[in-house]
Amino acid sequence: MNMKDSKLPRSNNRISDNIASLPKSGIRDFFELVSNMVDDDVISLGIGEPDFATPWHIREAAIYSLEKGHTNYTSNLGLYSLRNEICKYLTSDYKIDYCPEKECIITVGVSEGLDLLFRAIINPGDEIIYHEPCYVSYNAEIKMAYGVPVAIETKEKDAFALHPDDLRKAITPKTKAILLNFPCNPTGATLNLEQMKEIAEIAIENDLIVITDEIYSELTYEDRLPTIASLPGMKDRTVFLHGFSKAFAMTGFRIGFACGPDDIIDAMMKIHQYSMLCAPILAQEAAEEALINGQRDMNAMKNEYMERRNVVVKGFNDMGLDCLKPKGSFYVFVNITSTGLTSMEFAKRLLEDYKVAVVPGTAFGKCGEGYIRCAYAASMGDLINALARIREFVKGLNSV
Ligand SMILES: Cc1ncc(COP(=O)(O)O)c(C=O)c1O
Repeated sequence: MNMKDSKLPRSNNRISDNIASLPKSGIRDFFELVSNMVDDDVISLGIGEPDFATPWHIREAAIYSLEKGHTNYTSNLGLYSLRNEICKYLTSDYKIDYCPEKECIITVGVSEGLDLLFRAIINPGDEIIYHEPCYVSYNAEIKMAYGVPVAIETKEKDAFALHPDDLRKAITPKTKAILLNFPCNPTGATLNLEQMKEIAEIAIENDLIVITDEIYSELTYEDRLPTIASLPGMKDRTVFLHGFSKAFAMTGFRIGFACGPDDIIDAMMKIHQYSMLCAPILAQEAAEEALINGQRDMNAMKNEYMERRNVVVKGFNDMGLDCLKPKGSFYVFVNITSTGLTSMEFAKRLLEDYKVAVVPGTAFGKCGEGYIRCAYAASMGDLINALARIREFVKGLNSV
């Protein structure tokens, strides 16, 4: 581009109204601050990403894939052999049967699965109910598909589970779907069987689609339940989203999948084939290896997370910050209201003065005010050091 081009005036309607009206993430400034401090001695508990490298045999499968010259497109739905392994895995571990030909699609992470699904089911103005605090993308992704996000607040006193009564109250004639994410990012909450059954009944009574984002499901440390998709009457109205990023430490491979009723999977496939074509073949082959031989590594990582969780929860409670023991995921959602600081003030001062990065709870919805999210997907050494720094920070606040 020459200098002349860059000086041409820009018309002010270049960006679609829908995208222009999307708010920028509330923590943008905060992460700007974090990224400016990368050279410093910062311990990050901010990012929701395993600190483990992908197990070697899985990386090797990607290398072999290249060596064998597997550099082509795959079927739009994804490699049949991978879909078949996924369906076998869901039968054995999630007690639900899907047909690999029609009821399963490989996506570029759960991120693409969510995008495809919202675009496949939402007519402009349809409402999608979800629980908050929640994963940062839900609200924006629903809006990008011209839907209306409807957030239900979950509370610490309910261990951040979705209360079926609150769900009932949020339903209107415009409600199209309920989006669940248990174990939850950022709270680590899970549902109990009673709650899950009641939510299923509400979905059936109101003829709603249920979207279940189970990206953390293997990382459930206590009382793991079958998926809501497996409850009676639910399979035909539930879309099960999952992926390899978290439990298999494969964030960079970008492989997810959606299983559900064939009409919805087919509609998702239509969008995927025009926009993405397929997920990368070498990553699909690596994911297949993860399912066939990766169970032991996954369990080892899970056990390590569980130990870290116990240390982190005790660390926060010992320093006087209330922190529930989460039943799943690799996050703790810590109540910092006793410090008198807002979530953003706490996170900024902790970063600037004590070089520990955590995420202000407000990144996950307004009701996250008064909390910070810490990921314990960092080494035990880093976690112990970070806790020591946070203790000093909190002690300093109390003595003012
Ligand atoms: C709840 C939840 N869903 C979806 C995603 C996206 O994951 P993926 O890497 O599979 O796109 C994340 C990532 O942090 C998440 O926490």
